[in-house]
Amino acid sequence: MASKNRTDPFEAPTRGSRGRDKNGHDRSQPLLHQKGTEIQKFGTVRLLPIALPYETRMASCDALNQVLADSIILYNLYKKHHWLVRGHTFYQLHLLLDKHAGEQLELVDMIAERVQTLGGIAVADPRHVAEITQISRPPNGAEEVPAMLSRLLEAHELIIAETREAASKAQEQGDDGSNDLLVSDMLRTNELQTWFIAEHLVDTPLVKA
Ligand SMILES: [Fe+2]
Repeated sequence: MASKNRTDPFEAPTRGSRGRDKNGHDRSQPLLHQKGTEIQKFGTVRLLPIALPYETRMASCDALNQVLADSIILYNLYKKHHWLVRGHTFYQLHLLLDKHAGEQLELVDMIAERVQTLGGIAVADPRHVAEITQISRPPNGAEEVPAMLSRLLEAHELIIAETREAASKAQEQGDDGSNDLLVSDMLRTNELQTWFIAEHLVDTPLVKA
C-alpha cells in the first residue's frame, strides 16, 4: 500500500537506521529552536593578532560604536525623508536623499566591520542603537521640507565632530586603520553630503533675479 511509504522522513528519532546518527536523529534535519548563552558581551574586545594593545582597541571600539549608532540613525533619517519629501523639488530630493542613504549604509557596514576587526562587538539592533545615539528623534509624521533638510544637517555635523575626535584619538594611539577609515571614508563622505544638502537651503529666486 502506498500509504505505508508516506511517513515523515524527519520525524522524531526511532530505531537506528540508515541516515540517522548514533542518537537516532536524522542527519539532514536542521536543528531548530536552539538557544545559547551570550559568548561575548557588548563593550568587550577579543584579542586578535593585529599588534594593537588592549586599551587602544577598547578606545577605538567605543568611539567607532558611537559613530556607528549615529550613522545608523542618519541612514534611517535619509530613508524617512526620501519617502516623506514633497513639493516642487520632490523628484530631485527623492533621488538625492536615497543616494545619500545608500552611501551612509556603506559607511555603516565599514564601521561595523572595523569594530569586529578590532575584536569588539558592533552595535546593531535598532533598540540598542536608540539607547546609544545622540541624534534627537524626529516626529513620527512629516515635517516641512526645509526642516527635514536642517535636521539632516544637524545630524551630519554631530557625526562630523565625533568622527574628527575619534580620528585624532585613533592617530594618537597608533590605530592607523581606524584613523584612515574615519578620515578617508566617514569624514569626507559626511562633509560632501553636508554640502549637497546645505545648497538646498539657500533662498534663491526660482525665476526672476
Ligand atoms: Fe525608494
